[in-house]
Amino acid sequence: MYTAIAHPNIAFIKYWGNRDQALRLPVNGSISMNLAGLYTRSTVSFNASKSDALVINNHVVGGKGLERVSYILDLVRGMANITEKAEVKSENNFPSGAGIASSAAAFAALALAASKAAGLNLNEAELSRLARRGSGSASRSIPGGFVEWQMGASEEDCFAFSIAPVEHWNLVDCVAVVNASHKKTGSTEGHAIAATSPLQQARVADVPRRLEICRSAILNRDFESFANIIELDSDVMHAVMMTSNPPLVYWQPATLGIFHEVRAWRSQGLPAAYTVDAGANVHVICLSEFAKEVEKKLRALPGVNDVLVAGAGGAAHIE
Ligand code: DP6
Repeated sequence: MYTAIAHPNIAFIKYWGNRDQALRLPVNGSISMNLAGLYTRSTVSFNASKSDALVINNHVVGGKGLERVSYILDLVRGMANITEKAEVKSENNFPSGAGIASSAAAFAALALAASKAAGLNLNEAELSRLARRGSGSASRSIPGGFVEWQMGASEEDCFAFSIAPVEHWNLVDCVAVVNASHKKTGSTEGHAIAATSPLQQARVADVPRRLEICRSAILNRDFESFANIIELDSDVMHAVMMTSNPPLVYWQPATLGIFHEVRAWRSQGLPAAYTVDAGANVHVICLSEFAKEVEKKLRALPGVNDVLVAGAGGAAHIE
């Protein structure tokens, strides 16, 4: 029996669309930061029962959720040459309605705990590839700090690695939790229709340039370049989402309101920038010395229900 902990991550250059949906081989590379303080803790034990079992936050989960977990367990059983079923117990310390993708932390923790429990000793790249099969963004929650997921030429080299450690840059993510009345379409369905947008090809063609700018901005701690490129990348992904068939509009009026505020703050000298994943919540990235001020300003905006604050987080690890 092994227990693993993994953090969710926020993408600065986004993953949107797969060249192989089943293997989760993305159409472009991406860059993210793990979020400290927020985590999924998963315990896996292989046993003599007839089927796999999944418990999330003390609730038994079946159906699609269990199927997705069993798919990873099957891969692990294949690698370890075992047939035993497994019990997976998982808990998140962040609210599930907070719009922070729980699948990244969940599948990273599962890949690590399940492979260890099966007697395997996978290296970081192998763990990242395994986590990727459960959720693409989970590949980025295996390494620590600032992480790049390379698209690779094949399944073997499609994994994530750290480009800078946690202590490299004091970035903080202030997540403005916004009212979202509509039920959102999940990322998996979204990736599958990304190619229906007439803008997707143009988005993907320009990714190498944006990756380079973002990577250099992180390595040089250049906040202005970083801010401009992450806002552009987020806006371009949402343009693809909104113009796909069927259209996916994740933003709420408050989402757009926050964009205007953040840009005004930056022009007045407050280093802050926005990025949004597949939801309405706005991740406002700033330097740690400004986090209190950004949090306070966000809380005062209409439509902001709560603000979660997280710095750069470490790698997935065994507890
Ligand atoms: C918008 O990794 O959640 O957050 O592989 O189907 O589980 P699946 O998708 P997922 O997609 C993440 C999409 C995103 C951008 C990103 O995190 O890069």
